[in-house]
Amino acid sequence: MHVLISEERIQARIRELGAQIDADYPEGPVYLVAVLKGACFFLADLARAMKRPTRIDFIGISSYGKGRSTSGEVKLTKDLDASVEGADVLIVEDIIDSGITLSYLIHVLEQRKPRSLGVVALLDKPERRVRPVQVSYVGFEIPDSFVVGYGLDYAEDYRNLRDICVLE
Ligand code: IMP
Ligand code: MG
Repeated sequence: MHVLISEERIQARIRELGAQIDADYPEGPVYLVAVLKGACFFLADLARAMKRPTRIDFIGISSYGKGRSTSGEVKLTKDLDASVEGADVLIVEDIIDSGITLSYLIHVLEQRKPRSLGVVALLDKPERRVRPVQVSYVGFEIPDSFVVGYGLDYAEDYRNLRDICVLE
């Protein structure tokens, strides 16, 4: 295992993303919707990097089994607590790989009639994309390797690493 993106670089980039989102959004709260479980750490840091009012909520999606690549099957395991109708919603994702999870989630949330629906992903593996998705903000583009840490797991392990590491 080796460090791909250090804690310092992650935090510096999140401060930039927070400032950019603050500047881009109109008046009113931004509804940050984190995808469980991997995006929780990113949500916590991103929300605190923003100065404008935010609301937070969580949605559970499962597409992965215990392996390293998507099963292609996606299901909702936990829904939002509150309605997002008329709200500015920003989906907070840890990583976009095939894009299957995210395109499903966008489809689900569009039906809730938000005023706007954006996506912020800490990591993006563009080479792996199967389903095209529109991502508003990306922290880092990374090559096609399996990463863990800062929320990301391999079979539920390594989420609490402070850096993003490549699992060999
Ligand atoms: P997608 O549906 O293939 O885009 O998969 C997205 C989800 O797969 C992410 O939210 C992660 O939970 C998981 N995932 C994809 N790549 C990695 C990785 O390199 N490490 C850990 N989890 C990953
Ligand atoms: Mg995830």
